[in-house]
Amino acid sequence: MYITGIGRTKFGNLSESLPELAYEAIYASIIDSNLSIKDIDCIIVSNFLGGPLNGQLQLNSMVASLLPDIHIPIFRIETACASSSIALNQSIALLHNFNNIMVVGVEKMTSDLMMGPTEAIAMAADKEFDLSNGLIFPASYALIAQQYMRRYGISHDVLERVSYINHKNANLNPFAHFYHKDVTIEMIKNSPMVASPLNLFDCSPLSDGAVSVIVSNQKRSDRAVKILSSNFVTDSISLTQRKDLTSFKAVKIASKNAYKESAVSPRDVDVLEVHDCFTISELIALEDLNFCKSGQASQLICEGYTSRNGELPVNTDGGLKANGHPIGATGLAQIYEVVTQIRGEADERQIDGVEMGMTHNVGGVGGTAAVTILGMV
Ligand code: COA
Repeated sequence: MYITGIGRTKFGNLSESLPELAYEAIYASIIDSNLSIKDIDCIIVSNFLGGPLNGQLQLNSMVASLLPDIHIPIFRIETACASSSIALNQSIALLHNFNNIMVVGVEKMTSDLMMGPTEAIAMAADKEFDLSNGLIFPASYALIAQQYMRRYGISHDVLERVSYINHKNANLNPFAHFYHKDVTIEMIKNSPMVASPLNLFDCSPLSDGAVSVIVSNQKRSDRAVKILSSNFVTDSISLTQRKDLTSFKAVKIASKNAYKESAVSPRDVDVLEVHDCFTISELIALEDLNFCKSGQASQLICEGYTSRNGELPVNTDGGLKANGHPIGATGLAQIYEVVTQIRGEADERQIDGVEMGMTHNVGGVGGTAAVTILGMV
């Protein structure tokens, strides 16, 4: 199974509508591949909030309206922030029936919204036990950060470093939400509190954007990238059912499965994209993906291991923190970055000698976890 085309829009507070964003990404992925739109025999649309925020559902038919007179199966997948990685996973499963499947992730989270975005995003949390007690997303991750910081004795300085590195990386990514925003440690430190201990710069932003990825059952192009594994598992939605808040079981299982399926070990990974929806998530990801033992991620981050010139560059595109987090497109944006790095086409942010890369995409507070491993053909 191969990725034969990728395309994306800029992320940020954009003037384009939901269909305009989807069109731009679709068009870019077709141009990037050696294919014509007529070669695509199935499309999966990934989106989380089209209904509540934009008043638009039946996105499969909305996407059909953007194409020339083509009548193929198109359907939508939703698993909160992991939607597009699961859409990719399902496209791979379907490649026995189709030749070239397009996976389109799209989200519109700013302007002309039908409800408040915080309230809408909270629909990915458990309504009965968690939300009814005030656990909107920043609050859930604040609880996690409190427990993690107390258990492993780390200060907010480590989270500030995560934010700083992601913003620095985003400054090299013209598509990033915060491209060219000069961010200093002082700005991060002094930013307003959102949910203690998480402040503004611990949070991913509300972003508009779209990404399209074409998956094929044959190589079809010299720039194709191989899918070595795509794995996802699901866990309970409510935090009240979790034994431990400082680790996500679903991520541990999905990554173990992915390492086994691909015969890849953490040492083989040249670039890593993690789901840093809040800075604390980056530390937990490094541990759950087995790049270090529990409680040791802060050491990796502070010693520069995860920086651009470190042994394992993490979130070279700026991550969710600074590349942005248009929920239904986020997992595919991670895939876009890893494919770009493996092809050696990342311009200023290119890391030398990338042959293998991994993405980690989480839905809700660890309710869905997807791990994808890509490699050079
Ligand atoms: N990080 C850094 N700066 C941010 C930011 C973020 N996450 N969000 C907004 N800003 C900046 C804006 O660029 C703007 O800067 P400017 O004045 O220089 O132009 C300023 O802060 C105010 O922007 P605004 O849009 O009014 O912010 P807000 O207060 O409405 O939103 C949050 C801030 C943190 C509430 C919002 O980004 C948020 O809800 N993030 C979490 C999203 C989420 O939960 N996603 C799902 C994760 S699982």
